[in-house]
Amino acid sequence: MDLELLTLGLSRWVQVNKRLINISLLVEETNTARSTIQKVLNEETVFGPAHYEKIFPFLAKFYKVTQDDLLDLVKPKAKIIAIWNQKGGVGKSTCSNHICGQLVAKGKKVLLIDSDYQGNTTRNFSISKEDSPHDLFDVLTKQIDIRDAIVPAKYVSGLDILPSYGKMVEFETTPILTVNEKIRSYEEPIQSVSRDYDFIIFDMRPTMRDCHSDPIFLVAEYMFMVMNPSSMSWDGYIMAQEYLRRCYRDNMNLKFGGAFFNRIRSNVQYEIDSMLAVASAIEKDGTYVFENGIKESVGAKKSFELYFRDTSSFCNAFENGEIEGINKGQVKAIFDMNGDFSELTEEILAVINKYENENQ
Ligand SMILES: Nc1ncnc2c1ncn2[C@@H]1O[C@H](COP(=O)(O)OP(=O)(O)OP(=O)(O)O)[C@@H](O)[C@H]1O
Ligand SMILES: [Mg+2]
Repeated sequence: MDLELLTLGLSRWVQVNKRLINISLLVEETNTARSTIQKVLNEETVFGPAHYEKIFPFLAKFYKVTQDDLLDLVKPKAKIIAIWNQKGGVGKSTCSNHICGQLVAKGKKVLLIDSDYQGNTTRNFSISKEDSPHDLFDVLTKQIDIRDAIVPAKYVSGLDILPSYGKMVEFETTPILTVNEKIRSYEEPIQSVSRDYDFIIFDMRPTMRDCHSDPIFLVAEYMFMVMNPSSMSWDGYIMAQEYLRRCYRDNMNLKFGGAFFNRIRSNVQYEIDSMLAVASAIEKDGTYVFENGIKESVGAKKSFELYFRDTSSFCNAFENGEIEGINKGQVKAIFDMNGDFSELTEEILAVINKYENENQ
């Protein structure tokens, strides 16, 4: 059963299997239920957790479900974020992986989806077919339930990964799907786990306008663009904007949250000049440019090579039972790169908050 309690102005209504039903009519067989619900809804304008306790016993009885089932349904849905640039090698995987590390260190529950058939994210976290033989391709082609393909990251609690083993190449060769088919291939599985997480983050592949990137933009709420400090970034930005305009038509919820720079070398003046020129052009175009960027640093590779890649001594020690895992403080430090990623992640959260507040 698909049941959703509607908030704010529509707080008297409950949505069951996509039909709006007035709560007071539904429970009219019990006067107590009706008067309690009316009273609760008249007391305050915002429908929130305080109401659940009073209303859920009646709704649960009426729908013959448990109160836990109802609570499950009103839990907020994960924010769905795509980290993207159609250009290859700019740092999509590095940045999405590190951002996830920072979110997890803040206590958030995160699903990181490797949507690139190169599988860099999957291998960064040392996930192989031994952990789960299934990947995103199997989920999109409905061969397996998304929950059976998701693997908890071995060393980082709170982080789950939906791996990619390269089968996604086959998805490219499937006949062209209609917009609705594309949306459904992603939307159904993603929505089915959206209440299990605070954030669902897509590490995207370097491309645009294909039957694979398109549907991600149709389910995502936010896109953040990773850029390198080079004048070529501007060319990429213009192309991306054209492409995004098409995506906005199909997904009105998609927001271009902003662009940030990765691999900044403060001692290379021409790169800094290019970055500032591109940043100012992007801002003039009306797109938010992040105050925080990521410096060029060996730390970008180090975290994976030292701790997570299956060639690391940490992985071996973990497999041998010599160590138990990594605690939240260590996760924060490993994925921090001298503060760059914690600050960037804070700024991403601030951007999302701003949009959410505007929408209220
Ligand atoms: N800030 C950084 N400092 C140093 N090296 C970095 C930094 N960011 C990324 N790199 C390195 O650059 C290379 C490309 O990064 P990454 O794989 O994250 O890019 P990508 O955009 O995901 O690439 P693709 O388009 O192939 O998916 C990797 O070797 C990575 O370690
Ligand atoms: Mg990548």
